[in-house]
Amino acid sequence: MLVTGAGGQLGAALCEAFAGEELVPLTHADWDVALPPPAGLAPAGLVLHAAAWTDVDGAEADPQGAAAVNVGGTQHAAELGAPLVAFSTDYVFDGHKGNPYVESDSPAPLSVYGRTKLLGEAAAGDGAWVVRTSWLFGWTGRNFVRAMLHLGAERDEVAVVDDQRGCPTYVGHLAAAVRELVELPRGIWHVAADGDCTWAEFAEAIFAEAGLDCRVRRITSAELARPALRPSYSVLRSERRGAPRLPHWREGLRACLERL
Ligand SMILES: NC(=O)c1ccc[n+]([C@@H]2O[C@H](COP(=O)([O-])OP(=O)(O)OC[C@H]3O[C@@H](n4cnc5c(N)ncnc54)[C@H](OP(=O)(O)O)[C@@H]3O)[C@@H](O)[C@H]2O)c1
Repeated sequence: MLVTGAGGQLGAALCEAFAGEELVPLTHADWDVALPPPAGLAPAGLVLHAAAWTDVDGAEADPQGAAAVNVGGTQHAAELGAPLVAFSTDYVFDGHKGNPYVESDSPAPLSVYGRTKLLGEAAAGDGAWVVRTSWLFGWTGRNFVRAMLHLGAERDEVAVVDDQRGCPTYVGHLAAAVRELVELPRGIWHVAADGDCTWAEFAEAIFAEAGLDCRVRRITSAELARPALRPSYSVLRSERRGAPRLPHWREGLRACLERL
């Protein structure tokens, strides 16, 4: 089995969840997925493709760079010829639906990142499991939980957007669900934490669970003025029979904090 993006937050969790299998974890340094696979790489088992360009704002300034990784890289992973699990995002949706997005809803990405991930879904091919997930956090890498713990320890107040609603998903829970998913039919699957919240509500929960005395000032996305547009509502749910159900995001938060 091969794990790409093994140095990322999901890659690390996948390596843990599949420990015990014969695993080849590949970091960015081992294989730049924008380039064809290194000679001799011929996985006999699953390819868990967690490598991606995840800098949502940075993609606006370098759409070709983002596409090379998210589309070209997924195509290269598919070309390995082994059963493929590819990861996609709630940002393939525009947020206008206003109630949970299911697999049969039409994507309409608002950002370069979302467009490259949607094209990456197609590059994965019909024979892949395409896992759409959202707002990932874990014990490594750059994520919202680690950023808030850092800020909350230094400041009395942080400004956080309150007009985007989604499902903060703990990578440990997602990786465990991927083990279940590979026993199910292929195709697109929505796999995200139970429950939903805004970023501001998530920040308040982080401070409460971590015992940090820091206030959250609720602001709008317009006030934050980030380069990439994000959907105002991107709650994911599955309409597919037997879909793995993840614990509530607050349980994911507690599980993550125990490791930090
Ligand atoms: N993070 C989220 O909130 C979120 C939400 C929904 C879906 N997803 C999807 O979930 C998957 C995993 O995301 P994540 O949160 O684990 O991201 P992450 O922590 O940023 O990890 C991505 C990994 O990919 C590596 N990478 C970047 N460019 C690469 C390249 N050209 N070749 C090889 N490796 C490369 C990065 O290495 P370097 O850091 O060394 O470049 C990093 O280790 C991605 O498909 C992402 O689009 C993420």
